[in-house]
Amino acid sequence: MAFKSLYDITVIEKPVRAALGNETTESTIAILEGIRLAMNNYCSFRMPIVLTDEAIDRLGFNKDSNENPNPEELVDPEHDFTLRTIHNEETNKDWLVAFTSEEESGKGPASAIYTVPLFDILPKVAAIQEVEGIVINPWGTAFSLRRSMIEEILRINNPESQIFFNLGDITTLECDAIVNAANERLVSGSGVDGAIHLAAGKRLNKACRELGGCETGKAKITKGYNLKARYIIHTVGPVYRGKGDEASYLADCYLNSLNLARAHNIHSIAFPAISTGAYKFPAEEAANIALDITAQWLELNSDYGLQVIFCCYDQGMLDIYQNVLSNMTKQMNPPDFQEPVDLDLQKT
Ligand code: APR
Repeated sequence: MAFKSLYDITVIEKPVRAALGNETTESTIAILEGIRLAMNNYCSFRMPIVLTDEAIDRLGFNKDSNENPNPEELVDPEHDFTLRTIHNEETNKDWLVAFTSEEESGKGPASAIYTVPLFDILPKVAAIQEVEGIVINPWGTAFSLRRSMIEEILRINNPESQIFFNLGDITTLECDAIVNAANERLVSGSGVDGAIHLAAGKRLNKACRELGGCETGKAKITKGYNLKARYIIHTVGPVYRGKGDEASYLADCYLNSLNLARAHNIHSIAFPAISTGAYKFPAEEAANIALDITAQWLELNSDYGLQVIFCCYDQGMLDIYQNVLSNMTKQMNPPDFQEPVDLDLQKT
């Protein structure tokens, strides 16, 4: 099951087309609201990139050809490219370029493209004084999103955080990160660990070896490789022996995974029911810990929008999570047990 956004990128294209030729304050506000909704629903721009010579050599590309395959899956965003810009002679400043679709990017000269989520690029552009803004769809119905407009979008934006339940296989989820219930050696096991390694492919084994293991309660991150998720957060739950310290280790798994997600600008994360399989942690107690730590973390990080999905592999586990959540909600909003006061009596 794909974790489907409520809006897609047309939430930007439609108001831009509607404003064509009669830009008014209202039409600009509609465009900015569209961009804000697209950002909060994890939509992405297709941004043209300029590969470094080192990356071109390593990928075996022909520098003078436009026929090179799109290197999206192969490039390292930290080192292999810079984002293409358009220079504004009048102001002597640069504009970044972004497309909302393959169709829009296909209307002009071919370029290697990297997909960048709006929640990633907009705060960065807002912080770069040298860049004037982003030209959206320059070859089609273009819109110049100035830095001041981006600052306004970010200022009014109140990032939504929500908790979702999902019944199914976590490896199919299309969210920013999925969490793996791993072992301390970070070698593929059975259960969800085995499923994630199988779905992510062999490159995950190599990445896990380079991490050098992970202590119980801690969390480490790798790319998602063949998964739809961009990242995998590997955390090691406690083996349940009834010794008493397992609950705090399990709480650390959720806390460290959530903190790692924020550190990597992840805005949607899916958890399996950590430790409730091979590690025998009682499911209801584990679900209580998962929901309690997550609710506290969202409260403490209310400035950061994060969608948290609890992915249950079977209906039994889903029922447990939903019962735990409804009990938590009742405890937070206890019904008013006072008898309604008869106001007439009070008059005497
Ligand atoms: N998607 C979502 N949840 C899954 C999936 C899947 N594809 N496969 C299993 N699960 C569920 C199980 O039903 C259980 O509720 O994940 C939960 C955790 O079970 P395990 O995967 O057994 O994890 P855990 O109990 O933490 O034990 C970890 O098992 O696989 C080894 O290498 C792993 O040593 C580690 C240990």
